[in-house]
Amino acid sequence: MKKRFTVTSALPYANGPLHIGHLAGAYLPADIFVRYQKNKGNDVAFICGSDEHGAAITLQAKKNKTTPKKIIDKFHNLNKKTFSDFGIDFDFFHRTSEESHHKTAQDFFLKLNENNAFKILTTKQYFDKQENQFLADRYIEGTCPKCGYEHAYGDQCENCGTALSPNELINPKSKISGNSPVLRDTTHWFLDMQKHEKWLKEWINEGVINEKKKHNSKDWKSQVISQCNSWIDNGLNERAMTRDLDWGVKLPIKNTDGKVLYVWLDAPIGYISSTKAWAKENNKNWKDYWMNDETELIHFIGKDNIVFHCIIFPILLKIHGNYILPKNVPSNEFLNLEGRKISTSKNWAIWLHEFQKDFKDKQDSLRYYLCAISPEKKDSDFTWKDFQNRNNNELVDIYANFINRVIVLTNKYYDGIVPKISDLQSIDKDILKETEKSIELVGYYIEKFEFKKSLTSFMNISRLGNKYLTETEPWKLIKNDETRVKTIMNISIKVVAALSVISEPFLPFSSFQLREIIDMKNNCSWDFNISKIINEGHKIGTPKHLFSRINDEEIDKVIMKMEDEKK
Ligand code: 2FM
Ligand code: ZN
Repeated sequence: MKKRFTVTSALPYANGPLHIGHLAGAYLPADIFVRYQKNKGNDVAFICGSDEHGAAITLQAKKNKTTPKKIIDKFHNLNKKTFSDFGIDFDFFHRTSEESHHKTAQDFFLKLNENNAFKILTTKQYFDKQENQFLADRYIEGTCPKCGYEHAYGDQCENCGTALSPNELINPKSKISGNSPVLRDTTHWFLDMQKHEKWLKEWINEGVINEKKKHNSKDWKSQVISQCNSWIDNGLNERAMTRDLDWGVKLPIKNTDGKVLYVWLDAPIGYISSTKAWAKENNKNWKDYWMNDETELIHFIGKDNIVFHCIIFPILLKIHGNYILPKNVPSNEFLNLEGRKISTSKNWAIWLHEFQKDFKDKQDSLRYYLCAISPEKKDSDFTWKDFQNRNNNELVDIYANFINRVIVLTNKYYDGIVPKISDLQSIDKDILKETEKSIELVGYYIEKFEFKKSLTSFMNISRLGNKYLTETEPWKLIKNDETRVKTIMNISIKVVAALSVISEPFLPFSSFQLREIIDMKNNCSWDFNISKIINEGHKIGTPKHLFSRINDEEIDKVIMKMEDEKK
């Protein structure tokens, strides 16, 4: 039976370009998963968009003497293009500044309000008189009461790691004007989370709600479950779902000018409004993707968003009613760069649009490497040297080499026509069987969100292929056993044809090129029988290099560029 999926990737903030950490965290694994499911014939909505609200964007606009609108337009367009350049093939990439999103988020809020989700509380918060605005925690700086560091933020001291609240800071200053802020009363809508502890705990650990199995928690990553448990065990306090800001989705309540919905009630609702916009354009019913128990909702995120997607958003969906809850939240850990944490403010990052200039047409190589070192269970490290080695030693020497050998020999011996197969020897049967087994494993691991293992199984196929050619030596047999060579080449082409399909989730660009070369362009269905994947008499094209080496000069150049950043 065909399945239905709603797959989301965290909405990136539209106030900066994307880097490799973004790609490795929430976008590449999602794209691999979605391409695989679509090739299996399943019905998938792959949803994302720009997160265009938040205090950071208004602050950046102020600093750069521009408007939030100019910033979001620039980065929405850049990021949308970057995703498409790297083959991240969303079905819809929406914007939270769209009217349709505001309406969806406001309606969602009103329904929650009607269902008594909120406590309205008045508390004292820091206010910048000169700027005439309340200050988000991050926009207050002061001396840490624990360690005396003078530039601690209102929510955390980066020096000693202590979590703070703004009124604990000694000598607080507004980061916008530099002035001392004053405390002022303000009223907000707080999500009363405590009453949800019981069912959340049960759902996260056992996967059971209302007697229906929604997910099997054994499938969830252990680090996701343990982060949620430690939050719940510390007690779920009420959290403000609104902010004082003039940029965002306005609170749909009378006499609340200057109040907007906080990111928790804005960005994830963006998944829903994006699905609605996609459904409208494609003649689908969005409710099938959000309100049908048969649909599997999967959120791909980075670990900084676990609580958001496993606790807060499910609470909101449940209080609203009718919505399904996520089947899985395969969150990734962080990707470091050359042994250091990626930092956008310190410019310690590989920006994707710059990578593209430095390594033209190497998007698949980057996808391959990021998947091979995917921070699935723990943080991992990107190094340029390792990137170069993996590209040269694996993609070029193993994968492309096998394919090239087969295409070259078929052209040389048979003018590119798939030859007739005769008696199979055990070595031929074995390679077909081994290939089938590896293909099964590739799919099995993708379904378990274990993309690294899946990639290893995928690479095993070309390793086996190379071994098969080396052991059977068709170039020697061609002199006196043509029948045997025909069989060997027929089998080898079948393996290449299988690779052209199996590679698609990982390496979509070269997969397409390969399918063009062997004239199977429109065939990307995963449900094939390897013995019948390509017919004898079918004509394939001439060889082209699918991957090329990265030489030392190219790598040294980018390493030098990074070294400059360190200074
Ligand atoms: O953390 C972030 O990057 C925010 N833009 C929210 C992403 S998650 C969401 F889209 F729900
Ligand atoms: Zn401190």
